[in-house]
Amino acid sequence: MWKGRFTQDTSSLVEQFGESITYDWRLYAHDVAGSIAHARAQSMAGLLTDEEFSIIEKGLIEIQADIEAGKFEFKTSLEDIHMNIEAELTNRIGPTGAKLHAARSRNDQVATDTRLYCRTEIDLLIAACSHLQGALLDRAQAYADIVIPGYTHLQRGQPVTVGHHLLAYVEMLERDKSRLADCRQRLNICPLGSGALAGSTINLDREAIAKELDFDGVTTNSMDAIADRDHIAELLFVIALCGAHLSRLSEDLILWCSAEFGFVTLSDAHTTGSSLMPQKKNPDVCELTRGKTGRLVGNLMNLLVAIKGLPLTYNRDLQEDKPPLFDSIDTLKLTLAVNTEMIAAMEMNQDACEGAACDPMLLATDLADYLVKKGVPFRNAHELVGKAVAESIASKTPLDQLDLPALDEAFGSDASEVFSLKKALEARTNPGAPSIENVKSQITRWKKLLT
Ligand code: ARG
Repeated sequence: MWKGRFTQDTSSLVEQFGESITYDWRLYAHDVAGSIAHARAQSMAGLLTDEEFSIIEKGLIEIQADIEAGKFEFKTSLEDIHMNIEAELTNRIGPTGAKLHAARSRNDQVATDTRLYCRTEIDLLIAACSHLQGALLDRAQAYADIVIPGYTHLQRGQPVTVGHHLLAYVEMLERDKSRLADCRQRLNICPLGSGALAGSTINLDREAIAKELDFDGVTTNSMDAIADRDHIAELLFVIALCGAHLSRLSEDLILWCSAEFGFVTLSDAHTTGSSLMPQKKNPDVCELTRGKTGRLVGNLMNLLVAIKGLPLTYNRDLQEDKPPLFDSIDTLKLTLAVNTEMIAAMEMNQDACEGAACDPMLLATDLADYLVKKGVPFRNAHELVGKAVAESIASKTPLDQLDLPALDEAFGSDASEVFSLKKALEARTNPGAPSIENVKSQITRWKKLLT
């Protein structure tokens, strides 16, 4: 492609070191779409006859079909997807193919291709998030009123329901989807026409190209357009954060399926055994989800470090944007899909959940609230209940079986009525709180939103 200036062949080590075709081949459909839009603009500008345009378009479509049929031979000597396709086009249609690269550079080409690629993948990721939300919602509905302890510091705190707990993850995924959509909107402008870095003396209709490729507009600074990898960084962040959410879900499930908790049973299809210990049933999907999140975070760091020291505009370092991008997208897609399947098939164990939730200590705060409603300042109420808790521990008497009025006159004879899980949940009616009624209306809201 640059034989004019050079007298020596590229060293084969340099070829091996610099090729990206082994991974950027997957931009082929976007590269073809970009080239067709570019060629159409060339023909509108009088650079190609209608016939030449048709030949180029047909050639590109055939190349795409061959790639899809596995009949295309990618060459590392041609470095990347852009040169592989262009060289093959010229190979097939002759000198007309050599006209295609006028008024563009691989720099604006790769910037365009990756935006198109991210756009397509974002749509798939949003759909995959919705599927997982659907599975969580289904389980939340099935177990809407099973009470479990809610934890802080992994210590039992206050009662919640399985429905409320699972819907927390539906909320997180909704934010992930909104971040994906936001990222998609910001990236959807067309850099094609920015050339190597300074546009071109051949002025093609950039707006028409953008329109054909479904972009919302064109970039407005050629140098920024070439140097910019913000959309990749953003997407890697959004993916890493979504991964972090799934990792937290995994951690909950890993705890819940331990013998110590016993809240949940994962299906045989989504767990693995041990080659040594016959009794084992391991939550590998959860552990792998947690583990792969490290990669997602690493991929974000990978890109940020790669771009932080780069002067404007294109530097070859930027070719390193794609392995982390592809890896994060592949990883998250598979993670979402396998978790969707696993969640859909999991079963909560009502007895174990209720066994844990009947710990009267979960209602210590409600007891303090009871005193507050009788006019005791909260700090004093907290101390009085704290003393009752200490007495319960020292005397090995469950909190709900203590003679509270004997401990302090602030407790009335009705104090023990606080120790009803049903009442405790019924009372939590403020928006966002886990009354069964609230949880059920949230389920209805999510059902509408997700269909
Ligand atoms: N394969 C390159 C990349 O992914 C395409 C751009 C090459 N541009 C250049 N000036 N060498 O970044």
